[in-house]
Amino acid sequence: MASVSLQKLDKSYGAVQIVRGIDLEIADGELVVLVGPSGCGKSTTLRMVAGLESVTDGTIRIGNRVVNALPPRERDIAMVFQDYALYPHKTVAENMGFSLKVRGVDKAEAERRIQDAARMLGIAHLLDRRPGQLSGGQRQRVAMGRAIVRRPQVFLFDEPLSNLDAKLRGEVRTEIKRLHQAIGTTIIYVTHDQVEAMTLADRIVILKGGDIEQVGTPDEVYNRPASVFVGGFIGSPAMNFAKARAEGDRLAFAGGNSLPLAARLEEGREVIVGIRPEHFLNTADASSTLAVAAQVIEPLGSDTLVHFALGEAVMTARMPPTIRLEPGQVFQVGVDPTKIHLFDASTEKAIL
Ligand SMILES: Nc1ncnc2c1ncn2[C@@H]1O[C@H](COP(=O)(O)OP(=O)(O)O)[C@@H](O)[C@H]1O
Ligand SMILES: [Mg+2]
Repeated sequence: MASVSLQKLDKSYGAVQIVRGIDLEIADGELVVLVGPSGCGKSTTLRMVAGLESVTDGTIRIGNRVVNALPPRERDIAMVFQDYALYPHKTVAENMGFSLKVRGVDKAEAERRIQDAARMLGIAHLLDRRPGQLSGGQRQRVAMGRAIVRRPQVFLFDEPLSNLDAKLRGEVRTEIKRLHQAIGTTIIYVTHDQVEAMTLADRIVILKGGDIEQVGTPDEVYNRPASVFVGGFIGSPAMNFAKARAEGDRLAFAGGNSLPLAARLEEGREVIVGIRPEHFLNTADASSTLAVAAQVIEPLGSDTLVHFALGEAVMTARMPPTIRLEPGQVFQVGVDPTKIHLFDASTEKAIL
């Protein structure tokens, strides 16, 4: 196992800078998830760690070694991709053992590692099959098995679940977490899926346009988003945003609604207010309320999503399933003032 350190990491293709001075210290044994929208530089960053892509500027360390100039095979990492390209004519066991054979690992030792990994992944009964005889989820487990048997210092995962359907994705995700708990190897995991990031990560790195927007535990990025971008990216349904102005000790929205202001703000300051759908309340449980008109009501069984306008914004509230509303009906929705997020209207950064 090893720590991974990225210092001022840059990547440009010609004149286009893709990764912009990323600084990140990953502890030995940590599971860090790089998350962000498509094209923000996640794969490029991971591929630089793997040695599949050259570094334009900056330093990558694995353990205490600077690896910038080392070819992939000397970095002691194993990578699992979305496209897991197994050898179709080899059995599962042969696929898993191939890299060990190439590296001259003793046959009995290789056999032991394959059996261990297969048991851990629940594919021990599939070792004699060929990839064509496996389901997508099973193939992805074989791809993980192939990485595990190498006992690398660091695992690199690039969207390994993207080709699986929703149910399988959840299952294999749980498996990856169990695996990490069992073997404790450092993992850098890339995904565009914030649920995957939240459920798996010790720490989440949110990337935007090749730059780090925030690094924190799932709890930190959910409860203390550093920007409108992070607030909107983490959480589902997404955080609601509405413009407001500080007026005395209240936040005033267009259209006459207002909420008490917990922080002191300069009179007249324009802010963006962020409220998560799950932080709207029944009026009986709330010290503050907004008078709004229901637009669309979506029962989910466990909860009901209610969409309504606040100023110029459309908000979504996650309400108890017992709520009874008609489209167009004006109702009072409660808000917990301590759960409101405030962002500067021009920088879109959190106001602390
Ligand atoms: N070989 C390349 N040449 C030029 N541009 C590239 C190359 N590889 C990736 N890019 C660009 O770099 C950006 C980041 O890509 P990538 O790291 O794959 O994003 P992500 O994995 O976050 O979706 C994208 O805009 C992509 O088009
Ligand atoms: Mg990618």
